[in-house]
Amino acid sequence: MKTPPEQATGSAHGKIILMGEHAVVYGEPAIAFPFKATPVKIEIRQTDSLTHIASSYYQGVLSNAPRSLSNLSVLIETICSDLHQSSNHLFVTITSFIPAERGMGSSAAVATALVRALFSYFDQPLDRAKLLDYVDISEKIAHGNPSGIDARVTSSESPLFYKKGSAIELLSLNISGYLILADTGVKGQTLQSVADVADQVNALPEETMAIISQIGQLTQKAKEAILKNQRETLGVLMTQAHVSLRQLNVSNAVLDHLVDTALSHGALGAKLTGGGRGGCMIALTETEKAADTISNKLMEKGAVATWIHPLGADINE
Ligand code: MEV
Repeated sequence: MKTPPEQATGSAHGKIILMGEHAVVYGEPAIAFPFKATPVKIEIRQTDSLTHIASSYYQGVLSNAPRSLSNLSVLIETICSDLHQSSNHLFVTITSFIPAERGMGSSAAVATALVRALFSYFDQPLDRAKLLDYVDISEKIAHGNPSGIDARVTSSESPLFYKKGSAIELLSLNISGYLILADTGVKGQTLQSVADVADQVNALPEETMAIISQIGQLTQKAKEAILKNQRETLGVLMTQAHVSLRQLNVSNAVLDHLVDTALSHGALGAKLTGGGRGGCMIALTETEKAADTISNKLMEKGAVATWIHPLGADINE
């Protein structure tokens, strides 16, 4: 057994789902991109005492951590056991700029950074397949029945066109326009909304699967619009996707209000992003000036934070 180094780090970043959330759980495609404006870094160092977590959310011994961190405890135990290492005496510091429970991939990003940090700490090689296997374990605990998109995009350098069970396609979002991301300030409920959609599928299979398939078709058309740089078409498809997501009952009054605000102030399209029922919404504009104006309106109408993101070649900066 090698002696662990003094300390090791792992990192990841948030994500934005442009199209396809919820439907992606049922095998439809989704388009998502890494959101580097919200990074996560995890540092692991040795401690003489019991394994500790230090984060803005919880500080203390891992074994006393709240249930909402059980995905991280399971990851640490599983990886240490697989690597034949002790899970004691680790001091894990989590520094995250991703607002938690806002549909921005916080749980997957933290898990990704943790897996990377643990493998680096124990000086073991980590390929992408192994990383995703571990993050999927954590995401099953955090989200119940994840499609896997959050795990893949929070560890990716490029936007993705993702369909469960198919090879991942990298998709350049080389489209001229600006995306506004607005945080409602309300905690999203991905675990609950994914479970409620499953209940809706069971209770009303035909109607619900028709909505899911409609979201899939809109995502497919969005991919074509992106490839052809058809910004206006993409906007219309985004708004249509929001209507379908409302039919799946994963929106709420705050999200609808911000979507309406963006549209009534000239956005080309707007929709919720991620799990819904709170969390974040996105809106598309042609110019940066329009994005600024709409962003201010969204703040006036209750958003607690906004980000403006140029699409196109610089999306990864
Ligand atoms: C959550 O970011 C996206 C959902 O589609 C769930 C999933 O794909 O695992 C709502």
